[in-house]
Amino acid sequence: MVAPEGHIVPKRFYDRTISEKLLYTCFLLLVGLGYLMATSYLYVTHQMNDGKPGLSISDVADSYYGNRSGTRLEAAIRGSMAGNISIEDRDLMVAWLKDGAGEDHFEHEIKPILQKTCLNCHVQSSGMNLPDFSTYAGLHKFAEVDTGMSMASLLKLSHIHLFGISLLLFMLGGIFIQSEVNVIFKRFLVVSPMLAVFVDVASWFMTKMDSNYAIIVIVAGGLLGMSMALQILISLFQIWTLKRPLR
Ligand code: HEC
Repeated sequence: MVAPEGHIVPKRFYDRTISEKLLYTCFLLLVGLGYLMATSYLYVTHQMNDGKPGLSISDVADSYYGNRSGTRLEAAIRGSMAGNISIEDRDLMVAWLKDGAGEDHFEHEIKPILQKTCLNCHVQSSGMNLPDFSTYAGLHKFAEVDTGMSMASLLKLSHIHLFGISLLLFMLGGIFIQSEVNVIFKRFLVVSPMLAVFVDVASWFMTKMDSNYAIIVIVAGGLLGMSMALQILISLFQIWTLKRPLR
């Protein structure tokens, strides 16, 4: 379609055939469903990070920065396992943990403490299917400070997100720009989800360094979700209602 002045008029939804409209509609519905699945997945996998139900900033901080206030072993002997250990033995074990939980002191100082009660349950042969603490390797998994997601996992997650989501947003945006909305609003909605993905990924790395950045992960994720939702809903609506130019 060519306008009188010779400018190319951009394609709008009303220029599309029914087949194209059906293609767009199915794609938008599946992307919307995918987004809901992605957020549900995040919720069920992250909400218990900080030990409390419900997704919070500390859940996000724990997954990237880790919970560096201590080890799971220390949390256990101060908490759910406290009844199985004397105060003196607990302090010895905590001192060992703070000292780096080295193997050299395991056999002579730590193993005897474990043998008093812990190994009644925490050994393969107890049949209780609990973590096995009869060896250094078995105990050590619970004696490491949790520093959150590893750099390798973070890099993997980042490049998958950047490639995958930008491609998805490119296709989504290609559909959305055929709608008729305020042009400034349209430009904002085209750029904002891309910007949000960039800030989101960057904030994972920042949160790995400093847990205070967890709030940015949430804000950027929210902006991405809102922009995608608006693009999808406006497109779905106008694909089937826009019959001619609004002006
Ligand atoms: C009577 C059996 C029993 C004894 C004795 C026992 N535990 Fe446990 N322990 C359990 C059970 C059951 C769980 C899993 C449920 C839970 O986490 O409360 C568990 C879980 C743990 C965990 C994992 C917590 C987590 O973060 O998932 C640690 C660490 C632990 N015990 C340490 C110890 C230590 C150290 C001792 C000795 C001082 C000890 N336990 C003695 C039964 C026992």
